[in-house]
Amino acid sequence: MTDFTTTNAGIPVESDEHSLTVGPDGPILLQDHYAIEKMAQFNRERVPERVVHAKGSGAYGFFEVTNDVSQFTKADVFQPGRRTRMLARFSTVAGEQGSPDTWRDPRGFALKFYTQHGNYDLVGNNTPVFFVRDTLKFQDFIRSQKRQIGSGLRDHDMQWDFWTLSPESAHQVTWLMGDRGIPRTYRHMNGYGSHTYMWVNAAGEKFWVKYHFKTDQGIDFLTQEEADRLAGEDADFHRRDLWQSIRRGEHPAWTLKVQIMPFEDAPDYRFNPFDLTKVWPHSDYPLIDVGRMTLNENPEDFFLHIEQAAFEPSNLVPGIAPSPDKMLLGRLFSYPDTHRYRIGPNYTQLPPNRPQAPVRSYAKDGPMRYEPPNVARPYAPNSYGGPAADSRRFRPAGWTVDEGEMVRHAYTLRRDDDDFGQPGTMVREVLDDAARDRLVNNISGHLLDGVSKPVLERAVQYWRNVDKALGDRVAARVNGG
Ligand code: NDP
Ligand code: HEM
Repeated sequence: MTDFTTTNAGIPVESDEHSLTVGPDGPILLQDHYAIEKMAQFNRERVPERVVHAKGSGAYGFFEVTNDVSQFTKADVFQPGRRTRMLARFSTVAGEQGSPDTWRDPRGFALKFYTQHGNYDLVGNNTPVFFVRDTLKFQDFIRSQKRQIGSGLRDHDMQWDFWTLSPESAHQVTWLMGDRGIPRTYRHMNGYGSHTYMWVNAAGEKFWVKYHFKTDQGIDFLTQEEADRLAGEDADFHRRDLWQSIRRGEHPAWTLKVQIMPFEDAPDYRFNPFDLTKVWPHSDYPLIDVGRMTLNENPEDFFLHIEQAAFEPSNLVPGIAPSPDKMLLGRLFSYPDTHRYRIGPNYTQLPPNRPQAPVRSYAKDGPMRYEPPNVARPYAPNSYGGPAADSRRFRPAGWTVDEGEMVRHAYTLRRDDDDFGQPGTMVREVLDDAARDRLVNNISGHLLDGVSKPVLERAVQYWRNVDKALGDRVAARVNGG
């Protein structure tokens, strides 16, 4: 005997199948509040999908520290011996909720650590660089990747038009068109914090840091042909793989390594260390072990835990701070703003977003608030024992800004800064012959799919700027060679 159905208010329901009518063939009565509740609730079942990274998957797990990096940061999550519960969500960028997992795209790599000093979110990608370097260009970039105004179709001409007019995209596009543009599964890709962040140790000393999560499963990719086939056979291929592997007890893991740059190196480093289109060569700043993240728990309810998960780069905890990266600074605003719109202003009370650290904020009321108040008086300061900020213990971590004129200007160029240098190094020194062949195939296949002649000509020049030989091979292919 199973339990009887109830309304959302817990009242026993008389039928799961028949609405209340006047006689078997008669009209439906307005007093059938259960039928009304069902229809109304259904109409409100969706929250808007994420404006980017709409298709994704996630799981809970833990992060454990394996190496002492306390000389660089006092962040609770990175202290020796610490083990912290966490949530991860992986995603594609441009596709909608139902889009195939195997489309060529960067993959999101969003992490939320439930630390003793509140939630720490590291919202990165599976690449260490990005297409643009100023927050003001992000919206245009994304629109060029999404759908045409008239046809509602994705359009390679828009994509290459934007990329070739934005040469700073070359590093990320080289990455995207290479093998790493379609990971075999979410388990077989690295994650990068991408931006430079600041770390601060207990003595108040500052360092610049870049995060690298290396997959313990090994890097693996899908060819364009495999990905195209899978897009038709199983649009949820990556979601299924993650969920099934965790259910089987094969818990994917990643080893966290960081590059540390002494604070005072930044002004004279040969690349602008805050430019998101650049990496720091490993030979300049080697990788240092920190710990390991393991995903071992599937969400019990996808919508509740993954769809309503709200990651925000502004969730930085003591010991971790932003850097002058103009993309990162824009992102600090954007994410909480979109969560208030997409989920609602009390999104931090929902299970995936609720901190494990005690919350003692003066925030009050608003739609769907259900946590009991955590302060007796709703204002600060008050003389009734309300929390007070401890400005001696917790200080802003920043950098010195010279007084200067307000300008709209690109970063000042350093001696090795140019848009094509690092992607050229990748093509010539990192890829092997087979990977270079696949890169040429992927680029020319993409360009031959609806790109207009003027844009095509710019694209050939773009690749010649990255690497002359690569550009010549692309030219031969797209010109019928
Ligand atoms: P290294 O030879 O020390 O590093 C090259 C790195 O490239 C590898 O460690 C690996 O990083 C990554 N890599 C290997 N195969 C591919 C591939 N098919 N597609 C993309 N990346 C791949 O040299 P440098 O540090 O001097 O960097 C040289 C170039 O390598 C850079 O210009 C950049 O394009 C690329 N690169 C650099 C990274 C960095 O942080 N320095 C990170 C990744 C790429 P991983 O183990 O992280 O996968
Ligand atoms: C998602 C904005 C750059 C990684 C999002 C969302 C917005 C956004 C509005 C939707 C969030 C949601 O609804 O939950 C921006 C802006 C950027 C930027 C304004 C540049 C200024 C980047 C960069 C990275 C990145 C550089 C990676 C290094 C992600 C990830 C998600 C995401 C992983 C999905 C998070 C999740 O899984 O819920 N971004 N983004 N974004 N962004 Fe960005």
